[in-house]
Amino acid sequence: MKKIVFFLLIFGVSGALFTSCQKNGSEGEYQAPELDLPTTEFNYSDTDFPDHFDGIASFDNEPTDNQITDAGATLGRVLFYDTKLSLNNTVSCGTCHIQSKAFSDGKKFSPGFEGNLSTRNTLSLVNPRFAATLTWTGQNISLEEQVLQPIGNHLEMGLENLDHLSTKISKVDYYPALFEKAFGSTEVTHEKISRALAQFLRSMKCSQSKFDQGYNNEFANFTAMEKMGKDLFESADNGCDNCHRNVNFYYGSEANIGLTMDYADEGAGNGRFRIPSLRNVALTGPFMHNGQFETLEEVIDHYNDGVQPHPSLDWRLTNGNGEPKKLDLTDTEKQALVAYLKTLTDEEFITNKKWSDPFK
Ligand code: HEC
Ligand code: HEC
Repeated sequence: MKKIVFFLLIFGVSGALFTSCQKNGSEGEYQAPELDLPTTEFNYSDTDFPDHFDGIASFDNEPTDNQITDAGATLGRVLFYDTKLSLNNTVSCGTCHIQSKAFSDGKKFSPGFEGNLSTRNTLSLVNPRFAATLTWTGQNISLEEQVLQPIGNHLEMGLENLDHLSTKISKVDYYPALFEKAFGSTEVTHEKISRALAQFLRSMKCSQSKFDQGYNNEFANFTAMEKMGKDLFESADNGCDNCHRNVNFYYGSEANIGLTMDYADEGAGNGRFRIPSLRNVALTGPFMHNGQFETLEEVIDHYNDGVQPHPSLDWRLTNGNGEPKKLDLTDTEKQALVAYLKTLTDEEFITNKKWSDPFK
């Protein structure tokens, strides 16, 4: 009996040590987590969207010199979920961009590699190939440029020296073969890292929500509440779709929506932030650039009668006299708007294995 207890104790302690090594590479030797890739690559290069996306085809940001290949996006998937992309092997892109939460993380602000918090709420990832601009401030940069930002960021992943990044990645046993397959050579460069990550992001396709399924069928699949919500969303009085436009529910521009009279973070200037997509919005709270609302109900209350008279408030949220507009929604109408927003959830997108963590 004593022996068994002793054995369990040793086993338990070494188990605990093993997990702590995995979590913190600066203490002890790093234990590589198991990589589990399918023998035949997933199909990432099928980039067909349903016809109702034709209207935003002009936003397609895939460059001719970095088109998706199955091997390229597979490499991108491994990089996306690999904590080795952070200085102390604790944080991957997938730590903050969690698939089951539509690639957001459910937090107001997100702890980076040293536990320090990001200064803005993590954006979910929604059809990145149709993003006209990136980040909360609407930066006009390519996905290839964007993906290197968090790696170098001193709060997020901390690998500021890109040569250090390439050297580090080239020493990891599973990468030479993956780079060879993706780019025809085992050589690791930060350009290839960014190209593979961008391919993986562009392969993400969110187009199977209840909204999408009903699109060509007059939304016959909607409940009465969902239909009411859709009408309210699109009505001239409420004007949600003046900003959350088209089938991606966003547009490459920024607006001040009167969250406060005194913005601690001025965003793109004067409290303006990029209009975020509302696809999967039921999964991506807390909401707004600063995570100030916990629930969709609070967001609707804001638009209904909480908009502040900030001098830079967007004109679309004002009445004829330049004051914040009140929507006068009834409780049922508020619930209907929330019901409609929930039709934008795409279960396929958040469960498809090809975008999942290959280290589990
Ligand atoms: C510590 C948390 C954290 C990590 C790690 C992280 N991100 Fe992010 N990500 C964020 C936050 C916060 C934003 C919003 C930043 C902003 O707007 O200023 C963001 C924004 C983005 C965007 C812009 C989305 C859009 O719609 O404009 C992309 C793309 C992105 N991240 C990809 C990545 C990739 C790829 C990695 C890994 C190399 C990564 N992120 C690592 C928190 C994180
Ligand atoms: C003037 C343009 C504009 C109008 C009109 C507008 N929105 Fe927004 N919406 C935005 C911007 C900009 C943000 C982000 C603001 C920020 O974080 O500072 C946002 C954020 C949101 C969010 C949170 C998204 C997230 O991921 O955090 C929801 C939900 C939302 N809006 C729903 C609506 C609804 C419902 C309506 C109509 C009642 C509406 N919006 C009208 C511009 C607009």
